[in-house]
Amino acid sequence: MTSTNTSAPATRAVSPRALTLPDGMPAAAAWTLSPHALHINHGSFGAVPRVAQEHQNALRAEMDADPVAWFSFLPERIGVVRRELAAFVGASPERSAIVPNASAGASVVYSSLPMSQGAEIVVTDHGYGAVTMGAERMARRRGGRVRTAHVPLGATPQQAHDAVMDACTDKTRLIVIDHITSATARFMPVAAISASARERGIVTLVDGAHVPGLYADPLDGIDCDFWVGNLHKFACAPRGTAVLVANSGLRDELYPLIDSWGSPLAFPERFDTQGTLDLTSYLATPTATGFIADTWGWGGARDYMGALADYAENIVATAFSEQTGQDHRVDVGASTNALRLVRLPDGLARTHPEADALRNRVVSEFNVEAAFTSFGGVGYFRLSTHVYNTAADFEEFVERMVPTLCDWARDAVRSAPDL
Ligand SMILES: Cc1ncc(COP(=O)(O)O)c(C=O)c1O
Repeated sequence: MTSTNTSAPATRAVSPRALTLPDGMPAAAAWTLSPHALHINHGSFGAVPRVAQEHQNALRAEMDADPVAWFSFLPERIGVVRRELAAFVGASPERSAIVPNASAGASVVYSSLPMSQGAEIVVTDHGYGAVTMGAERMARRRGGRVRTAHVPLGATPQQAHDAVMDACTDKTRLIVIDHITSATARFMPVAAISASARERGIVTLVDGAHVPGLYADPLDGIDCDFWVGNLHKFACAPRGTAVLVANSGLRDELYPLIDSWGSPLAFPERFDTQGTLDLTSYLATPTATGFIADTWGWGGARDYMGALADYAENIVATAFSEQTGQDHRVDVGASTNALRLVRLPDGLARTHPEADALRNRVVSEFNVEAAFTSFGGVGYFRLSTHVYNTAADFEEFVERMVPTLCDWARDAVRSAPDL
């Protein structure tokens, strides 16, 4: 993956021309997102194009029409799709299993990886909370502990690498590192960390939840032990579809979270059978990825998302600055194409619960589906772009939400003046 941008935040203010469908309709017409809400948070839960929803519905109807035929031949069908999804993320099919989500992929590693008593796990303070909690539970079970590396928000890739490796001790067995971080929308230098870890005999799990769809060959040059990426985020798959890639010989240790009839099989075939479970999301995923490939090409889609994110980041940061007189642009050290941070006015989203409460208030009172995050006691607006977004979405956010958020921030500071 070569597309990281380690330069200062974007200054480009040119809005890209909105994408359309072959019939001239706006790209959003291919989704079923409510026209009564503003959708600028693809990164949290994704959005499924209509054609993939229809395919999944048809698969469900097939399952409900002939359950015995469906479940008898399901593992073979999953095997075919697994190879396609491996190709989509640029991984070898022999090393790729399908799991329901990134959390499940991490749980598979935590529950399967041999760990001696007292072994330690290194995570970072940018890690996804739920995945870090799994690491903590695993460490507790083995009488070990989790060490958290502090990586400053604007750390260069080298500084981030050094912070993680400096947190390792001779007891460290596993490093869990995000490929693209959730709260801070930045890349971590996973290739360099995986290489250093391997030299020291430490296993690496890369949480690439946001990565599939955003980069063409995301695993290129990364020699980690395990990597997991969600297809139901930027690849627009039906929810409940992720790929778990296992590169080292440790793959034979991995078992799905549900023990089923595939257990005697080798990795990854043993993941293709999961008892009586609705796996139609897996089977409909190639329809979602194929739709974007056929309509704009993934390269065209990515170029658009990046250009729109440049524009959005710029106008939102500028709008906050005009209200507060402060600089709201953020240097995240290694930024991504479709996820960006803009600093919120002081007083908002200083903690994770406050950020979630802000998201809930914004969606409840304004029908604006947005992400707010918190890192180091500072609140951020994390914007996402996808092909169905347009410049007008972010202009609307500027007009409707920026003044309101500034008012709420002033209220928060007034009610807690010591902050
Ligand atoms: C970095 C990261 N890891 C893991 C997850 C969890 O994804 P899921 O809920 O699909 O398991 C997310 C979700 O946003 C994420 O951003």
